[in-house]
Amino acid sequence: MGETVRVGVVGWPVKHSRSPIIFDHWFKAYGIDAHYDRIEVKPEEGERFFADLAASDLAGVNVTMPHKATAARFAVLDPAGVRLQAINTLWRDGDRMAGTSSDGSGFLKSLDAQAPDWRRDGPALILGAGGAAVSVADALAAAGVRVRIANRTHEKAAALAALVGAEAVPWERLPAAMEDTTLLVNATSLGMNGSGPLDLALAPLPHDATVADLVYYPLETPLLRDARARGLVAVDGLGMLLYQATVGFERWFGIDPTVDDALRRAVLATM
Ligand code: ATR
Repeated sequence: MGETVRVGVVGWPVKHSRSPIIFDHWFKAYGIDAHYDRIEVKPEEGERFFADLAASDLAGVNVTMPHKATAARFAVLDPAGVRLQAINTLWRDGDRMAGTSSDGSGFLKSLDAQAPDWRRDGPALILGAGGAAVSVADALAAAGVRVRIANRTHEKAAALAALVGAEAVPWERLPAAMEDTTLLVNATSLGMNGSGPLDLALAPLPHDATVADLVYYPLETPLLRDARARGLVAVDGLGMLLYQATVGFERWFGIDPTVDDALRRAVLATM
């Protein structure tokens, strides 16, 4: 019998993280003897934690707020990590820790799974310029997709556009920008339970456009409902949450795990 492998998610707060449910599902599915912990690390203790991580008994970790940038300073970074200087997945590489940001690649995997025919020629139009928008904009741009970004606070859209080599579009000009948009992504918090709806008429979008929402509570946002009503392919936000987790699992256990309906149901049951 081998020893139980220890992994987990590091954050503050971390009590509400759904990652343990996702990983426990895969441990059962693949018969892996491992334990996934919620690891509370206070903001001021982040540097010490990541400096000492390679000497700990952890095989690797996921990272959430507020430690993503600190973690990047103590790991060998892959290209996405270098570009973003913020990471959410670390694994062992010899006697050091290596790391990446898996949100962007998770988004692309979710898109490929839920909308296999999404038009990669672009332009993609991303709404929002917060943390989630940064990951998605970076991944799409790195995959060679032409990207446009619109945000309520235009300066943030302009800064993100400059970072990833995209074009910033004023929020008022969304209807015109949508006319040749092949992929629309809501990376704002609008549409989430408890916040207002994203008030956007989808009529200008081409008939073969794909609409993705990063909001996953509710799973069927008003935006996705409108997209389906117009006959467009709709991609929900739960996919990104689940696929970003596959990156750590593959690094730690050498298996690219399946995101199936049973996993989706298990996570949805906690909402
Ligand atoms: P996350 O980490 O999930 O991306 P965030 O960094 O707080 O969250 O970003 C929230 C995004 O939703 C921002 O782009 C924000 O726009 P601003 O930069 O103008 O704040 C956007 N957002 C939030 N409420 C909004 C609203 N009522 N109308 C338009 N955009 C809104």
